[in-house]
Amino acid sequence: MKNGLLRKKTISDLLKTAEKGQGLKKELGTFDLTLLGIGAIIGTGIFVLTGTGALTAGPALIISFVIAGLACLFSALSYAEFASTVPVSGSVYTYTYATLGELVAWIIGWDLILEYLLAVSTVSVGWSGYFQSLLKGFGIELPKALTAAPGALPGATTYFNLPAFLIVFIITILLSLGVKQSKRVNNVMVIIKVAVVLLFIAVAVGYVKPEHWQPFMPFGFNGVFSAAALVFFAFIGFDAISSAAEETRNPNRDLPKGILLSLFICTLLYVIVTAIMTGIVPFEQFKGNTDHPISLVLQIAGQNWVAGVIDVGAILGMTTVMLVMLYGQTRVSFAMSRDGLMPRMFSKIHPKFRTPYKATWFFGLIAGLLGGFIPLNELAELVNIGTLSAFILISFSVIVLRKTQPDLKRSFRCPAVPLIPILSILFCGFLISQLAPATWLRFIIWLAIGFIVYFAYSRKHARLNVEKDQSINM
Ligand code: ALA
Repeated sequence: MKNGLLRKKTISDLLKTAEKGQGLKKELGTFDLTLLGIGAIIGTGIFVLTGTGALTAGPALIISFVIAGLACLFSALSYAEFASTVPVSGSVYTYTYATLGELVAWIIGWDLILEYLLAVSTVSVGWSGYFQSLLKGFGIELPKALTAAPGALPGATTYFNLPAFLIVFIITILLSLGVKQSKRVNNVMVIIKVAVVLLFIAVAVGYVKPEHWQPFMPFGFNGVFSAAALVFFAFIGFDAISSAAEETRNPNRDLPKGILLSLFICTLLYVIVTAIMTGIVPFEQFKGNTDHPISLVLQIAGQNWVAGVIDVGAILGMTTVMLVMLYGQTRVSFAMSRDGLMPRMFSKIHPKFRTPYKATWFFGLIAGLLGGFIPLNELAELVNIGTLSAFILISFSVIVLRKTQPDLKRSFRCPAVPLIPILSILFCGFLISQLAPATWLRFIIWLAIGFIVYFAYSRKHARLNVEKDQSINM
């Protein structure tokens, strides 16, 4: 079996790796993990995509958020079982290597590149929108051609989203120097981010005119479902919690709790914010104005000062999302490279800064260029399809693992298996079906490239393969 597509690392190998990780301080609890989750979750989804979402679903966008949230809830329960069974860094890629084998692990890792890498690009475009809104507040306007990707602004000639590129460039420098978001910085950023959302709610609620909620569902369920597939992006990031498993005091109890709690809090905030923003202006008013909808509605309400505060909060908040995502990307590629599935350079550590600097620069530059050249919605849809596919595979893995390793100690057991993982598969599959056919096509091309790389390179260079050869030589 060792040279087959199903060759696996064993769970005990992984647990040994986790034990080796004991050098890492185990200091995170449920509260920290929840903040970590919220830090990775709240970003472009709520601050930016709500504009396009409202144009797609009307005020019924709140239902879209609930549907996307449910898909995440079912996936999160499966995810949490995985995370509490194998508390090792490297995200689901590592878990899958131990359960479903190398090929599926490769596909997941390949999907995760879409999730993490393109999420950095997507969020950078959202960041750019708020940054430009803030600059405008000070009377500064950038040359139009450098404010957006080609074709992103109907009726305007644009070449490159310079602010989006520059922010990713700065983040790449920080990460390559080893600026890991510390627990304290993360906690402060999350508090700012949540405070900004609460400030929006408190100030904006007074301007809601309930008549704007009529018609509630102007584009029927079709609109609601397509918007759900888009705003799913707003929930991505909760899986980042599991990457802190080795630094968690009691991962088996705290991980699932942290995942579920952060998901619940974010869903609640999203629904309230959406209800308020579609209550302040008729949703059609977002047409051509989807860069910074949350501060826009406050500007329309005449609350320019609060809108400025929100711009700053959103900018800071989205910066943390990019840090977490690019960090996640370099750690997944590190794990894949360590296993031999990706070239060595991705696990090369800088002698002084102790960071995977080559991987950081490689992925940072790609993320920056993609953010500069591709419009936000197209990027977000690709992130979603990559993530949804990964969630489907994870839910499937939970069912398989229950059958193949029934006695494995699971401190958190996903309730009602196989029902919940099946619901997760159905919800995620449904959301994928609502994405644009162009997105499916791009995803299929991405997967095809992945298969070529796997069969041409990774399969031969995999550590498990090399180890097999060595054992034959002995
Ligand atoms: N959920 C994250 C965001 O909305 C990726 O920015």
